Amino acid sequence: MELFLSRVSSRAFSEERLTEEELMSLFEAARWTPSSYNDQPWRFVYARRGEKEWETLFNVLADPNKIWCQRADTLILITSRKFYEKNDKLTQTSRLSTGAAWMSLALEAHHRKIVAHGLEGFDYEKIRKDLQIPDNYNVEAMVAIGKPGKIDTLPEALQKAEVPSERKPLKEILSKGTFPFT
Ligand SMILES: Cc1cc2nc3c(=O)[nH]c(=O)nc-3n(C[C@H](O)[C@H](O)[C@H](O)COP(=O)(O)O)c2cc1C
Repeated sequence: MELFLSRVSSRAFSEERLTEEELMSLFEAARWTPSSYNDQPWRFVYARRGEKEWETLFNVLADPNKIWCQRADTLILITSRKFYEKNDKLTQTSRLSTGAAWMSLALEAHHRKIVAHGLEGFDYEKIRKDLQIPDNYNVEAMVAIGKPGKIDTLPEALQKAEVPSERKPLKEILSKGTFPFT
């Protein structure tokens, strides 16, 4: 689908705000992700720029991410529950399903001409402490969300990064029946 090929993780956000309906549509997309036993292990915490919760999420970002995330409309923290709710047994796949939920969110965003940029560059321990996230949850990633903006709002080095990225060819990630990967 064209949707897969045209999505990019831009760092340029416009000042235009998302409506509440637009923002909730992203979580609605994530909500429909399939998961083992339909356990739905993903949990999201969000904060909108200018509102009181913003600093908690923004402050844990690595400095290079703060440079461009300061213009994002919304920051999202993604977590996953480690144990099935129905029997408290360890699940092997809650992280996989939560990753799929992130992608659903990202594709819904792209479909609506909204940027969703994944983030690993933040302090995982600090956010766990600051939000009092219990041990039965994995802290997975953050996402910066916003309407696409002009790339000249970015520092020069980041402007250069505003190009579509490449991918490994299929032959490097796919094998029939054996595991040849190192
Ligand atoms: C889980 C995850 C974490 C990421 N962490 C960061 C980050 O901390 N900072 C950043 O600038 N980009 C981050 N990225 C963006 C990736 O670098 C980007 O998705 C990748 O280079 C592929 O580019 P594309 O999304 O434009 O296709 C992250 C992406 C994902 C999915």
